[in-house]
Amino acid sequence: MAEDLLIASGTKSEKYSSILPQVNALIDGEEDLIANLANIVAALKEQFGWLWVGFYLVKKNELVLGPFQGPVACTRIRKGKGVCGTSWQNASTIIVPDVEAFPGHIACSSASKSEIVIPIIRDGKVTAVLDVDSASLNEFDETDQHYLEQLVASIKFE
Ligand code: SME
Repeated sequence: MAEDLLIASGTKSEKYSSILPQVNALIDGEEDLIANLANIVAALKEQFGWLWVGFYLVKKNELVLGPFQGPVACTRIRKGKGVCGTSWQNASTIIVPDVEAFPGHIACSSASKSEIVIPIIRDGKVTAVLDVDSASLNEFDETDQHYLEQLVASIKFE
């Protein structure tokens, strides 16, 4: 697929319902993980305009920065540290309405106000996390969790 994305307006659900099939079409048939992660974050950034969206990959028992869109970010996060490291440790999605109220939050950008982190679990182990930051408070809710968990489930990890 080498076409422009169709960018939807409307409710959050309408935006996800429009962009997710396009993302699946982008990654279908491509086996390279980095290429797929790069296109996923580009598509999400274009649809939603979030401050930062990217992946951290588990490598040698640390989270290491992967493909992302947005301001430069910290490259390594240890298990249990920050929102990402906590999501990894608990193997569960974390929604942070106000990053300043999350103990141990790692501020990669002072413009980030709220955040959602989705763990990617394969064979019972977290292999990566998807991290999304917004410049607005209270950006993320169960709708984001639902669709983003659905999205990461369709990524093929070798
Ligand atoms: N805020 C994250 C760190 C990653 S940046 O937001 C891109 C955290 O607390 O884990």
